[in-house]
Amino acid sequence: MNRQLTTICTDIKTAINDVVGDHKKANVFILTDDNSLKYCYPLIRDLPCLKEAHLITIASGDENKNIDSAVKVWQYLSEHDANRKSLMINLGGGMITDIGGFVASTFKRGIEYINIPTTLLGAVDAATGGKTGINFLGLKNEIGVFNPARHVLIYIDFFKTLDKQNLRSGYAEMVKHALIDAWEEWRKVLDFNLEDVDFDVLRTMVERSVRIKERIVEQDPKEQHLRKALNLGHTFAHAFETFSYRVNRPVLHGYAVMWGLLCELYLAHVKFGFPKKELLKLKYMTKEYYGMFSFDCNDYEILYELMTHDKKNESKEINFTLLSDIGEIQINQTASKEEIFEVLDFYLMG
Ligand code: GLY
Repeated sequence: MNRQLTTICTDIKTAINDVVGDHKKANVFILTDDNSLKYCYPLIRDLPCLKEAHLITIASGDENKNIDSAVKVWQYLSEHDANRKSLMINLGGGMITDIGGFVASTFKRGIEYINIPTTLLGAVDAATGGKTGINFLGLKNEIGVFNPARHVLIYIDFFKTLDKQNLRSGYAEMVKHALIDAWEEWRKVLDFNLEDVDFDVLRTMVERSVRIKERIVEQDPKEQHLRKALNLGHTFAHAFETFSYRVNRPVLHGYAVMWGLLCELYLAHVKFGFPKKELLKLKYMTKEYYGMFSFDCNDYEILYELMTHDKKNESKEINFTLLSDIGEIQINQTASKEEIFEVLDFYLMG
């Protein structure tokens, strides 16, 4: 797998010019959704290298990351003479970089693509690492391929239009990266003021966060071993997220990730002696910035059931990534139903 090149840019126009450069102008295809079309595309549309680029827009929202939207983009590419030398630019959040990467990777057996994430969550998670895909038959990312973008361009100014909740949602994945990496990173994410975001500080933190993910992906691009570290928090998180939709109280992905991290670090404390002091710091941060998702012990069975269907499981057992300390990763762990219920008790005790 090629190494992908992620650039944290201070000037998005120069960065696009550098990477699109002298690519044949009429052979560039830009994919947006209605949000990135409105808020981000206007900042780049006048660039000379994009003057003749084709613009494709699909409906926003994870529910549209499906085969119908993919067909729409494939069809557009075919009808506008896209060829092996075409270049696709995915301008949007994780939904656009996932589906755009998938469409590009499969059109005529693969054309090159560039990701320009427009959300913090997209920048630190979906845009990097080469996972592409669409949802299918109600299953998330059921169809897809591993194929990295030629470049990922991260422009922090795009995130200035995000609301507080979406910034915090993205930040949760940065907390995860810090926990799996090192004490220094963990201290930095704890110190950051999420109440009054300093975007210059955020820029350097995003860069560090993305490098953590890149180092892991480079060693295990297809998630056979080390990349499973990036699943920390996500077994509980996916259960919380799915449950939140079922009970009509949908939550942002990153919020579920924070609650999932809290649960899984408690499990890590029980099983591996993960330091209680750090667990309590995470708990404080979660309560302060994310609040707590409300459920009660009558919901334990359904949450457990959702975890048994997690696609990270390789057998009947529920698969977790845990930590024995900051940066000390323990992949392929499991827990009994009783242990999982004990974690939920810990969560509810507040
Ligand atoms: N979202 C975790 C990964 O890319 O592996």
